[in-house]
Amino acid sequence: MNVTRNITLDAALDEAKREYTDRNPASLANHQKAAGPMPGGNTRTVLFYDPFPVTFARGEDARLWDVDGHEYRDFLGEYTAGIAGHSHPAIRRAVTQALEAGINMGGHNTYEPRFAELVTARFPSMQQVRFTNSGTEANLLAISTAVAKTGRKKVMVMRSGYHGAVFTFSPGVNINAPFDYVYGIYNDIDATRAELRAHAGELACVILEPMLGGGGCIPAELPFLQMLREETSRHGIVLIFDEVMTSRLSPGGLQAVLGVIPDMTTLGKYVGGGMSFGAFGGAPELMGLFDPRRADALPHAGTFNNNVLTMAAGIASLTEVYTPAEADRLNGVGEALRGRLNAVAQKHDVAMQFTGRGSMIAVHMLRGPVRAPSDAARGNMKARDLLFFDLLRSNFWIARRGMMALSVPLTQDDYDAYVAAVEEFVVSRRSLLV
Ligand SMILES: Cc1ncc(COP(=O)(O)O)c(C=O)c1O
Repeated sequence: MNVTRNITLDAALDEAKREYTDRNPASLANHQKAAGPMPGGNTRTVLFYDPFPVTFARGEDARLWDVDGHEYRDFLGEYTAGIAGHSHPAIRRAVTQALEAGINMGGHNTYEPRFAELVTARFPSMQQVRFTNSGTEANLLAISTAVAKTGRKKVMVMRSGYHGAVFTFSPGVNINAPFDYVYGIYNDIDATRAELRAHAGELACVILEPMLGGGGCIPAELPFLQMLREETSRHGIVLIFDEVMTSRLSPGGLQAVLGVIPDMTTLGKYVGGGMSFGAFGGAPELMGLFDPRRADALPHAGTFNNNVLTMAAGIASLTEVYTPAEADRLNGVGEALRGRLNAVAQKHDVAMQFTGRGSMIAVHMLRGPVRAPSDAARGNMKARDLLFFDLLRSNFWIARRGMMALSVPLTQDDYDAYVAAVEEFVVSRRSLLV
C-alpha cells in the first residue's frame, strides 16, 4: 500500500492524473481522434472528465475492458441503465430474435401490448403507458400532458433537480426546454409549500425524483413527498414522479415502497433492457388524451417509440432479469454494501459518507447530513476525484461524480473487493480526508 504523507490534495490529484495518462495511451488516442468531429470528443456530457475519459472495448457480465487492456469490475452499471450487466443471455436472446424477425417495420408489433402490460402491472400510478426513446423525452411528454390537461403553463421543479438533457436545474445551466419554471427546494417543506401555494392556480405540474439519483442519491423524506401529494391534489396540479432511475428500488418503483402515488410517472434506463428507452404513464384521465380514436386526441409521434429491439429487450428485462424477487434481492445487497462502506468511513474517522437507497449509492466527501443538493455541494470534490482515480487504478469503474449503481451479475467477491479497495483508499489517503 502506498501511504500518502506530507502531500497536498492538489499534488496527489496531479500525480494520480499523470499516472492515469501514462496507463491509458489508447484511450487518449481515441479521445484525440474524437475531438476533431465532436466538440471535446464527446456526445454525452456526463462521460467527460479531465484529463480525458477512458474508452471501453468490451463488456461481459459485470466486467469491462478498456482499449488499453485493463479489466474493471463495473460498479457504475451504466448510470442505472445496465442492471442486467453487459451480456445477459435473456437480453441477447430477445434482441437476436427481434433482429431476425426484421427491424423498423413501419407498423405495430406484438411486443408492444405485452411490454405495456408488464409496465402497467408493475408501477402503481401507471395505469396506461406510452413509450419514448429516452427519459428526457418521457419527461417532455409528461410535462406537456400536464400542461395540455390543466390549461396551465407553470412547471414546478426542484432546485438542482435533473430530468434529462433539457431539464438540468443546476446553477448556471441555460439549455432547458422553455417551460415557465417555478422552483421548490428538495426536502424543504415550508419553502416548497409556500412557493407552490403562491403559484397554485397557474401550476400545471410538479415534477421531481422521489430520490435524487444523479444529484447524489439523496432520498426524499416521506413528509416532504406527502406534503406535495396533498397540495397538488388540493390545487388540481399534476404530480409527476421521475422514476427514470428510482423505479429499480422496489418491484413497483420507489412510489410503491413509500406509498405516495403520483398522477404520472416517467421511466427510462434499465426498463428497456439496455436499449434506448423511455416511458410516461398515468391514469386514463390523463393518458386517454392521446387516444387516437378521439377527435380531439393529442398527437404523440416518435419513429422509434415501438422499435422492436427495445420492446423485446424490455420484456426480457422485466420477466427474466429484473423480476420482482430480483429487485428485492439486489436492493437488499445494496443496503448491506452501503452499510459496510459507511462503516469503513466511520472506522477511520474520515470526511466521507455513502448515501442512497438499495442498489443506488453515492459518495460524498463530507461529514454531517446530506438532505439536499446544497449539502452535497459542500463535499470536497478534489477528494472525490482522487477516490475515482484510485479506484480506477484498483480496477473499479464508478462515475466520476461518485455514483454507483449495482447490477445483477455482481458477485459477493466483487462486493468484498470493492469494500477492500475503498478501505485501501481511506488508509492510504487518510491525511487528505480528515
Ligand atoms: C432522473 C432522470 N431523469 C431523466 C433522465 C434522462 O434520461 P435519458 O438520459 O434517457 O434521456 C435521467 C438520466 O440520467 C435521469 O437520471
